[in-house]
Amino acid sequence: MLFRSTVEADLDRLLRCVVDEPVSSAHPGRLLDHLRSGDYRHDRVWIAEQDGEILARAVWWGFPGGDRPLALDCVYVHPSVRDRVGLAADLLRHAHDAYGARPDYHLFLAPGWRDDEEAAAAVAWRQEAAARAGLTDALERHRYEWTPGAPVPAPSRRLVFRPEDDDEAFVRAFMRVAEGSLDDHTRRAAAVMGAEAQAREDVSDYRSMPGDRSMWRLAYTEDGDLVGVALPSANGGGPVVGYLGVVPEHRGHGYVDDLLGEITRRHAERGAERIVADTDTGNVPMARAFERAGYRAFAVRLVISPSAS
Ligand SMILES: CC(C)(COP(=O)(O)OP(=O)(O)OC[C@H]1O[C@@H](n2cnc3c(N)ncnc32)[C@H](O)[C@@H]1OP(=O)(O)O)[C@@H](O)C(=O)NCCC(=O)NCCS
Repeated sequence: MLFRSTVEADLDRLLRCVVDEPVSSAHPGRLLDHLRSGDYRHDRVWIAEQDGEILARAVWWGFPGGDRPLALDCVYVHPSVRDRVGLAADLLRHAHDAYGARPDYHLFLAPGWRDDEEAAAAVAWRQEAAARAGLTDALERHRYEWTPGAPVPAPSRRLVFRPEDDDEAFVRAFMRVAEGSLDDHTRRAAAVMGAEAQAREDVSDYRSMPGDRSMWRLAYTEDGDLVGVALPSANGGGPVVGYLGVVPEHRGHGYVDDLLGEITRRHAERGAERIVADTDTGNVPMARAFERAGYRAFAVRLVISPSAS
């Protein structure tokens, strides 16, 4: 068995790797689209090949022009393979060795996917293969969407939102709002790399996104006290909530509604047809804020990561 990353000449064969299970996948349209946009790159598509046949394929996603793959997007194994878990695990291990990293695996599923036998089975073997390649921890995130049928919030009456050109001001604000965060990724990353490096990486990742930097805001009380951040953003699929947070000393006053309202309103003013957002199922204050603001839970993102310990 040969394990390798792909090249342009593999494209026709890559397009014939079609997942027919109810999980998200790099289906032919998405593969072509994302290879064109740079979200996928051939050196981040890996295959297991025998006698010229692709028996397994794994596809990672990253920001176009970004320096690292950010998430595993799709695992496919040909139906003729008996040990699909073993082959997929070997493929992931080869790619991880080449990357010098084990990016998280993101699976997009319907709400209530565990009650759907086919979806649960499709997740189970992939999760087992990922675990054998060192991705052992699972976390679920709610996916929310706002569409124009939902209300457009009025401007906040108690907070002042100011643009800020200096990224360093956002790094400092990100550090403050990360304190005591209920968001798993923020907590893990801060524990591994330290609060400042984590804040810097987050700001730099938001900079890499196609959202308009001039929409980023710091939020203050009328007395000029920093309350939090509101970063409307966008990804390849369109407008996203991006990031928001409240500094610890101002939590518990519902300011989350003002920040989310500001982001929703700014996107709506620009004619957004859909605004998407994710939050961990454990981040209850954030999930409640989405529901109060008329966002609808339309999917679940299952994130499988290396062990935090
Ligand atoms: C999520 C967040 C924005 C909520 O802000 P908020 O304005 O305090 O939210 P609410 O006022 O609606 O809080 C509701 C309740 O949750 C509690 N709460 C809010 N954040 C909390 C936290 N991080 N840890 C524990 N409890 C929290 C509040 O104290 C309040 O409790 P109460 O009802 O007993 O008074 C804030 O916790 C935060 O900035 N977290 C870090 C960043 C983050 O997670 N951003 C979202 C990423 S998708």
